[in-house]
Amino acid sequence: MTGIRFVVSLLSLSLLSGLNCPVRGATPTDTVAIIVDYYRSDKPLTFSPADLAKLPHEKVQAEVGKKHLTFEGVPLAEIVRVAGAKWGGKCSSLLDCYLLAESDDGFRAVFALPEIDPGLCHQMVILADRCDGQPLSKGNVPYQIIEEDAKQRGRWVKRAKKISIRPATDAEEETPAKRPVAAAEKMPKSQVYLVGMGPGDAGLVTIKAAAILQKADCVFCFDYLKNEVARYVPRSKIEVASPMLMGRFRSQDLKTLSPELRQRARLSEEEMTTFLPRVRRMVAEKKTLVFADPGDPTMYCPWSWVAEEFADLGLVVVPGLSSFNAANAALKQSITKNGCSIVISPGDNLGSPDKRGRLADTLVLFTHRVKLKELVPRLAARYPADTPIAVVCEASYERQQVIFATLGSIWKKVSPEDLPHLYLVYVGDGLIAANRN
Ligand SMILES: C[S@@+](CC[C@H](N)C(=O)[O-])C[C@H]1O[C@@H](n2cnc3c(N)ncnc32)[C@H](O)[C@@H]1O
Repeated sequence: MTGIRFVVSLLSLSLLSGLNCPVRGATPTDTVAIIVDYYRSDKPLTFSPADLAKLPHEKVQAEVGKKHLTFEGVPLAEIVRVAGAKWGGKCSSLLDCYLLAESDDGFRAVFALPEIDPGLCHQMVILADRCDGQPLSKGNVPYQIIEEDAKQRGRWVKRAKKISIRPATDAEEETPAKRPVAAAEKMPKSQVYLVGMGPGDAGLVTIKAAAILQKADCVFCFDYLKNEVARYVPRSKIEVASPMLMGRFRSQDLKTLSPELRQRARLSEEEMTTFLPRVRRMVAEKKTLVFADPGDPTMYCPWSWVAEEFADLGLVVVPGLSSFNAANAALKQSITKNGCSIVISPGDNLGSPDKRGRLADTLVLFTHRVKLKELVPRLAARYPADTPIAVVCEASYERQQVIFATLGSIWKKVSPEDLPHLYLVYVGDGLIAANRN
């Protein structure tokens, strides 16, 4: 729904009293004037006290204690009208809008706009600046919102500072732009999160991931991610974890490991003996902890073991955009052409040739364990030399690069030493081996 949004705030007499009519785009100061921010206007409207003085004034009688008082001021309906909104009685487009009045001490009260529409209701709500012909008392200045015929003074807003008028459909989220943030804040309540921070481009970190990082008491990440995390979290809350915590070898795996890896597994378990109880202590101290990693935390993530380890603490996994998604976008083509399957692997599984000996599936290779130099001879031994291959380097970064070739021509297009640290390899007949970047 389109509605009306005004923000009315009160600024000082001294700077603005010389103005002849409300001005759009005047700079708010802490002086006494009124800014009306109409959402259909590019700039807010500023009413000086002189502008207000020119608007029709009305008197409202009220009992305060045992005293009978007469307040005088501009009806809110008039301020709304001057700001550009059209009252229309029962046909008003403002029927589902509301007005939020705020005082300078944070007190807030709401009026439905139909309650102040002169075409619909008799009683008046005014922005009063005088009482019994005198300026308002010290505790109420500069303006007090007075509601006529109110049973109680619950919605009288003294020291009124700001009035916002909004469509009721936006009641939960202040503006459409804030809606995703509000949605992100409605996250499952937990004290332990495993959060994916996307493939590299800061614009691809989800709003939810950012909101969770911002509320963390401690973010554990590996050295390569610390600067990225620091965009959301003060450095004092970032803990760069030991590389020995990258991945976890389960005891039953140990026998299958090489001596070198077995030694690493031992060191890793040693590190775990202090790290795991520490995490549990922090949770017991009511701290909110985040384990952060690039991409999506369910794809070859060195923190993936924490999901199992801390499942009993109610750990929540927050998905991230994987480098796989970013690389797909960089390819600018369907990777499921003709309904083919996708085989994702860290290099051990290279897919299977079909009856014609060709690779009909799309094979996507993450290269943290195995590099292109070792992959190409293995692939060439299994598939024809004209099989298309694409290497997507540093997907989503500004320096992103896509190299299209075939298994037979790849080394004419790139040499192993020119490849960056981060790249994904795509292989399969579905790929269009075009030279387009
Ligand atoms: C340990 S895995 C982590 C994957 C991560 N969880 C994800 O979802 O993207 C690291 C590998 O992911 C790939 N990778 C990560 N970021 C990349 C990027 N921006 N561009 C290309 N490949 C990337 C590389 O193959 C790299 O060796």
